[in-house]
Amino acid sequence: MESSGQKKEKPKILLAYSGGLDTSVAIHWLKQMHGCEVVTVTVDVGQTDDLKDAMRRARAIGASRAWVIDAKKEFADSYVLPALKANALYEGNYPLGTAIARPLMVAKLVEMAKRLGADTIAHGCTGKGNDQVRFEVSIMALAPDMKIMAPTRDWKMSREEEIEYAKAHNIPIPVTVDAPYSIDESVWSRAIECGVLEDPWMEPPESIYGWTNGLDTTPEKPDYVEIGFVEGKPVSLNGTPMDLLDIIVALNKAGGNHGVGRIDHIENRLVGIKSREIYEAPGAIVLIKAHQDLESMVLPKDLLHYKKSVEQHYADLVYNGLWFSPLKDALDAFIDSTQEDVTGTVKIKLHKGSAVVVGRESPCSLYSTALSTYDKADTFDHSAAKGFIYVWGLPLKVGALVKAARANGNGVLNESAVSEDLIVACK
Ligand code: ARG
Repeated sequence: MESSGQKKEKPKILLAYSGGLDTSVAIHWLKQMHGCEVVTVTVDVGQTDDLKDAMRRARAIGASRAWVIDAKKEFADSYVLPALKANALYEGNYPLGTAIARPLMVAKLVEMAKRLGADTIAHGCTGKGNDQVRFEVSIMALAPDMKIMAPTRDWKMSREEEIEYAKAHNIPIPVTVDAPYSIDESVWSRAIECGVLEDPWMEPPESIYGWTNGLDTTPEKPDYVEIGFVEGKPVSLNGTPMDLLDIIVALNKAGGNHGVGRIDHIENRLVGIKSREIYEAPGAIVLIKAHQDLESMVLPKDLLHYKKSVEQHYADLVYNGLWFSPLKDALDAFIDSTQEDVTGTVKIKLHKGSAVVVGRESPCSLYSTALSTYDKADTFDHSAAKGFIYVWGLPLKVGALVKAARANGNGVLNESAVSEDLIVACK
């Protein structure tokens, strides 16, 4: 029982804070509307924003505590890596840098909410995007009792009204507020939307890009990078052993310098809208290409082809917010079992916006020069091909003979032609 003099603790809301306009206004609004204490959590997944500054801003606006959690390494090892092993590209284009960051943010928020005794998690997503789904579905999976608030979705203020609200309540507006674009970054990709980009015919202005050079400023000479993999995981760059996070950061720089990894994509959102998205993802594109190429060399054909259909499913599932789902766990188990032999090195040439695989080697390579060569070292049994083709083509041959018999009107199949071997050996 509380002693009479003891103050009743205010309910605590944990707010996922990005430092932008929406979540800055949300701190004030939540306190005002719910008379609660607001604690902000900013999860660092490799944004280039000054997160210390964001933290100070949160406190200035009225957050009782403001936390920044450096989760970059965990992001690389536990979120990027499974996506890379799955060569995950949504609709064949987008490496999912935003989509895989949300479940990690939620995991951190849930951890903190439990530690601090908060029963509500709030986020700043609007009602039109995928991120609201990813946030809320992930919370439902990890903390089914947690209450969820989405002030930006509920308050029905336009952007201009939010700015007015901020001014009226002395909320320091982040300097980027006037920028017409909505930008989201993780170390795996930078996403840019809104402004002139909403016209799908408009070529994106050069000024939107932050990680990549335009082709007229990229170096005339190519650079080569060599990526070492062990069991599907990148472990070295140009022969130097490195953490995955450091490899991604280095490739973002090296690839970005050559204008690699710009993506202009008409995307199908989960909420039924088509949107125009621009991405920069040099490191992701280089690593996925390298990984795909190594797999081509070490995986048997049937497994390689089957895995591709799983990859598509995997990318959809992650995009659609089901990171913490039994199906995702099962697909991860399958994908992990395919990675045992994905060990080796891939050489990539970076030049004028392209990243091209120009070499690969692996102790697990299934490539046999003796079988593939056309010179005299050839050991392939050419005569075996004849019988193989006879069997392989037989159903087509029978089908064509039946069709011919029916066209003749008598409907009688030429049985002798069925078994006749028409492939004549050249003397
Ligand atoms: N369309 C991408 C996704 O749903 C990126 C969204 C990025 N968000 C942003 N505020 N720019 O994953």
